[in-house]
Amino acid sequence: MKKNIQIAIDGPAGAGKSTIAKIAAEALGYTYIDTGAMYRALTLKALKVNINLEDAESVTNLLGITEITLQPSDKGQLVFLDGQDVSQEIRSNEVTSNVSKVASHAAMREIMVQHQQEMAKLGGVVMDGRDIGTAVLIDAELKLYMSATVEERARRRFEDNKQRGIETTILQLQDEIALRDKLDSEREASPLVQAEDAIFLDTTELSIQQAADAILKLVSERMA
Ligand code: CDP
Ligand code: CDP
Repeated sequence: MKKNIQIAIDGPAGAGKSTIAKIAAEALGYTYIDTGAMYRALTLKALKVNINLEDAESVTNLLGITEITLQPSDKGQLVFLDGQDVSQEIRSNEVTSNVSKVASHAAMREIMVQHQQEMAKLGGVVMDGRDIGTAVLIDAELKLYMSATVEERARRRFEDNKQRGIETTILQLQDEIALRDKLDSEREASPLVQAEDAIFLDTTELSIQQAADAILKLVSERMA
């Protein structure tokens, strides 16, 4: 029986990655690592210091002087930016609509990927993002690519935002998600694609419990 495997989950926004990753991590006693939060934290900093988000060098240099830490807590994963808890702030509309621009720069991504590999090196992790199976954890024992229709993903985000008190409409979210999908899938540096050895899971018609059960079944098969 293998222990402490690496589980890589990729897919577009609202597919259910982080929700299912958290449930799987908890069930297995693993650490959940939300790599999107790291790109969001860097985007928040870039907006605060007002650099040109399109400029690869400025964004990469900014990462060099930025401390981003993920910390598990009872309330879920907390995200610290230069020592400050920004777990809520990184979910704002402004960060969401700019993060894909910031995340497109190859040299900055190389540094992020190194950090993420370091965080996962002992195994026992469930990591989600866009390039986990293709660039960060290429030898992960289990790779999943989760997706759902854009309409369903926008509906889910609408419900999330309502709970967080963020005002949006479903149509606005559908446009924002479609644009982010496009930027993330068409960029040159580690675009969002399904890794060849990843298992595809369409969550459109699945409840959270059904999706989590499907993953936990795959995990036990891989660990056997
Ligand atoms: O939670 P949501 O699906 O909205 O997005 P996220 O996981 O927080 O990721 C935000 C953005 O960060 C994505 O749209 C990508 O542009 C970028 N990202 C990335 O490029 N690579 C990753 N491994 C994770 C996120
Ligand atoms: O991480 P990602 O952007 O892929 O999605 P998420 O933040 O985990 O999921 C977005 C929302 O959809 C959350 O509120 C989940 O509870 C919900 N969800 C759902 O309703 N049904 C699923 N099968 C998966 C997620």
